[in-house]
Amino acid sequence: MIGIIGFGKMGEAIALGLKGLGEKIGVFDIDQERVKFAKEQGLTVFEDNVSLVKNSSLIILAVKPQVIKDVLDEIKTHISSDKLVVSIAAGVRSDTIKEALGIDRVVRVMPNTPALVGEGAIVLSFCGGFTEREKRLVTEVFRPLGEVFVLDEVYMDAVTALSGSGPAYVFLFLEALSDAGVKVGLSRDVSLRLALQTLKGSLVLFERKEGIPRKFIDMVTSPGGTTISALHTLEINGFKGIIMSAVEEAYRRSKELGG
Ligand SMILES: NC(=O)c1ccc[n+]([C@@H]2O[C@H](COP(=O)([O-])OP(=O)(O)OC[C@H]3O[C@@H](n4cnc5c(N)ncnc54)[C@H](OP(=O)(O)O)[C@@H]3O)[C@@H](O)[C@H]2O)c1
Repeated sequence: MIGIIGFGKMGEAIALGLKGLGEKIGVFDIDQERVKFAKEQGLTVFEDNVSLVKNSSLIILAVKPQVIKDVLDEIKTHISSDKLVVSIAAGVRSDTIKEALGIDRVVRVMPNTPALVGEGAIVLSFCGGFTEREKRLVTEVFRPLGEVFVLDEVYMDAVTALSGSGPAYVFLFLEALSDAGVKVGLSRDVSLRLALQTLKGSLVLFERKEGIPRKFIDMVTSPGGTTISALHTLEINGFKGIIMSAVEEAYRRSKELGG
């Protein structure tokens, strides 16, 4: 049984992804609305976190970082070394979890919101000793949520800043493009749809053809044309520098929050 503590946005995405693979899944959440929804989805719902832990060989901590300490306190006496503990709590270091539970290994995971539609960027860090079989098992658990990467924990703050927070930057860019369309006379609806398809189409083009981003920028940029005028304005205003500083600032904040 795979037990998920916290059936919120991420807990739901993981549970429903796993259900598709035919895994036995149990959940617990303190929110009765979420419990009701989990039952409607045909998931096993435990009475509390302790009974979930007792009945699960793999436990996924999917509560907010602010409440994780309480959850760890609640379950610590029921965790044995044969159980696999996986945490998706942003910024909570593996040492904090190991210490609180008295164990010497934990898997840290950083997903992002596109995981809700199976298109996430999911980074796993195996912190401690795991067999190849255990690593494969945990990787399979997250595969339905998107593309899985395995990195050392030292990179988790960088990952948080880039792919964890990343969807917010992308949506801001989408909003900016659609505002720009309105500014030059398009209706809001047409502008948003054009902006969205431009983003989607460009990414598919990039994925299907070989090359670095610059090649695809050059493909649109004719001498003396409209695109180079736009690129000039972006350069003058430090577009790339702003994005890089923003990610660097998120990285700094992630380190700060992780203590
Ligand atoms: N959403 C993202 O983009 C994202 C990305 C990367 C990582 N994460 C990480 O994923 C984790 C979950 O995030 P989320 O967005 O899914 O949060 P969420 O939607 O708030 O889900 C957490 C759920 O856990 C419940 N809960 C609170 N205390 C509990 C307890 N003691 N025992 C069992 N359940 C409890 C909450 O109920 P109440 O609402 O009643 O408190 C809520 O239903 C977080 O640690 C976050 O850092 C999220």
